[in-house]
Amino acid sequence: MDLNVKYAVIPCAGRGTRFLPITKGVAKEMCPIIDRPTLDYIIEECIDSGITNIVLIVSKDKADIKKYYSIDEEFEKELERAGKIKERDLIRKIATKCHIDYVLQEELLGLGHAVLLSKEVVKDNNFIVCCGDDICTYEKGNPPVKQLIEGFKMSGGKCIVGGKKVPHADIVKYGAMDVKEAINDRLYSLKGIIEKPKLEEAPSDLASLGKWCFPAKIYDYLAKTPKGKGGEIQLTDAIALLNKDEDVYFYDFIGTRYDCGDKLGYLKAIVDIALTREDLKDRFKEYLKTLDLGE
Ligand code: UTP
Repeated sequence: MDLNVKYAVIPCAGRGTRFLPITKGVAKEMCPIIDRPTLDYIIEECIDSGITNIVLIVSKDKADIKKYYSIDEEFEKELERAGKIKERDLIRKIATKCHIDYVLQEELLGLGHAVLLSKEVVKDNNFIVCCGDDICTYEKGNPPVKQLIEGFKMSGGKCIVGGKKVPHADIVKYGAMDVKEAINDRLYSLKGIIEKPKLEEAPSDLASLGKWCFPAKIYDYLAKTPKGKGGEIQLTDAIALLNKDEDVYFYDFIGTRYDCGDKLGYLKAIVDIALTREDLKDRFKEYLKTLDLGE
């Protein structure tokens, strides 16, 4: 079996109701973390992990995403005429850094449905899925997506659910891993995943956090997954079906994950990333020191 992973599917079609009112007019994936859209951090993590083909699942009102990743010759010429060559190169680089395909999700039938639609591009290749609103920061050279791909290779090409241990009280918000066996300190085989468990029923504090690595056969399972919670096709249900036939694994990745579809998660990402930016961190720290944070 070919264990290379060159495709990443990023579902970006969701409504972003947790982030209203801005998501009425702007895709949440385009909301900026300083000077780049949230989505760009995800795409960069994929590229850093050796991904060459990105598939964006979009809805009809997400035209701004496509515009951002397209070449804009007129704007480039304008910058050139103004002698702003660095700026011209910057906007050119965005449009040329990887190959992007767009797939339209006309009806929002869930994350599983969005992933199933990517089959027309990904075909029989292995692929990563990253939620369009989850970003990670990580040590240079060790992006979580790359770690998941290593787990995928280690498992011989089985489905990998990416995530981390979360504080016990928080596990109720996530898919919780029911572990069968620890393969090493990062990789675990699974008995199953309990979606949003009651605190007393959570089998572990290992949470699914918006990243997966799949062999192409997951498409067969998605195609036969009935509509679940909220009338949507749930990715977790397809993984449970696959788990009946073969082992499925969890990879406990190293890195910090931010849920940018949530207002507080988004704010934390902006602050933490600003504190790592060479051009901003010193001045930003000085500013933070002047704040009276009260109690
Ligand atoms: P979320 O549930 O976090 O996104 O889905 P949402 O529906 O936009 O969020 P809220 O709850 O309304 O605020 C996880 C990811 O799956 C995508 C979303 O865009 C997000 O990146 N998604 C979800 C789709 O692409 N299509 C869908 O039908 C559902």
